[in-house]
Amino acid sequence: PVISVLELGGVKIARDDVVRDDPTNNVPDTIFSKLGLQLHRRDQHPLGILKNTIYDYFDTNYSNKFDKFDELCPIVSVKQNFDDVLVPADHVSRSYNDTYYVDSQTVLRCHTSAHQAELLRKGHTHFLVTGDVYRRDSIDSTHYPVFHQMEGFRVFSPDEWEASGMDGTSFAAEDLKKCLEGLATHLFGLLLYVDPVKISGAVEMRWVDTYFPFTNPSFELEIYFKEKWLEVLGCGVTEQEILKRNGKLNNVAWAFGLGLERLAMVLFDIPDIRLFWSDDERFTSQFSKGQLGTKFKPFSRYPPCYKDMSFWISESFTENNLCEVVRGIAGDLVEEVSLIDNFTNKKGMTSHCYRISYRSMERSLTDEEINDLQMSVREQVQSKLNVVLR
Ligand code: PHE
Repeated sequence: PVISVLELGGVKIARDDVVRDDPTNNVPDTIFSKLGLQLHRRDQHPLGILKNTIYDYFDTNYSNKFDKFDELCPIVSVKQNFDDVLVPADHVSRSYNDTYYVDSQTVLRCHTSAHQAELLRKGHTHFLVTGDVYRRDSIDSTHYPVFHQMEGFRVFSPDEWEASGMDGTSFAAEDLKKCLEGLATHLFGLLLYVDPVKISGAVEMRWVDTYFPFTNPSFELEIYFKEKWLEVLGCGVTEQEILKRNGKLNNVAWAFGLGLERLAMVLFDIPDIRLFWSDDERFTSQFSKGQLGTKFKPFSRYPPCYKDMSFWISESFTENNLCEVVRGIAGDLVEEVSLIDNFTNKKGMTSHCYRISYRSMERSLTDEEINDLQMSVREQVQSKLNVVLR
């Protein structure tokens, strides 16, 4: 069922107004239908439970100083999402391949950082913003085009770092890492292990230097989960330009953006990111308010079914576009789309072979229905993506 009118933060949005033949819109129905669900506001849902536990950490350690927002509208301007946080005009994240555009000046926010500037301008100096964020992406067990983030932001005044004898930036960077390590400890119960000392049963984490347009220095925190390093948050010391533009000329600040699903997957042992969207009672009934870290007991896993397809690509081909076509047809029945073969022939034509894994978390799929899905996928890939099936 496709929702046709939606009310978000007092604003009415009609599916038809948003999309009808607007070439600057690339929001498919599968995504539109996720708007307004606000999984992070359900106290019995793993994401809501996690959000509340993080709130507790901040309330306890900062005597309720952090203002909390979890209902800000996910439809924001290009200015809020990109310009206000200094994302360069030619940055890939602005492309139609990476971001959902409602029209040429409006997007589905791709991060909660989109709200930093407005909240600063309103005078907030300590805040947490939780919300659904949207990114066009590939499909696998840890990537879903809608996920949830929590943004944290803290402003310091000069007397705070001057007393320490440190410069403002070093002071903020140190405070930030301490705050987030404390949060990790609060969530995992002292399981941060410092390379190379491995504590048995510990959750392994590491800091990695990185780059964001809005912070400097910038860091990522990664957690080792199922044989992979998972990025769970990005953070750093806020660029002075952002503070200056928003009335905080003489201050220093830190910010972080934390991916709730990834943390929740580790904490609750949830093996597939699609499960967060499940209405199946066998999923939803396993969690209760205030209970962080209940281990999810997988209900029977139905067998996957693999279908391969090969085609000659054209220059405009992108994997994100392919994934969206597949998701548009198969929805959450598609578990993964992976490139399994790639070659270029003597004439310079490039062929890709993709393997699509279909699997339902709720029932077993019949051969017939998978063949039908695959048939539609082949048709649409051919008609929408400008490729030639082999
Ligand atoms: N907005 C960044 C992201 O989504 C995360 C981030 C937030 C990084 C705040 C630094 C500071 O990846």
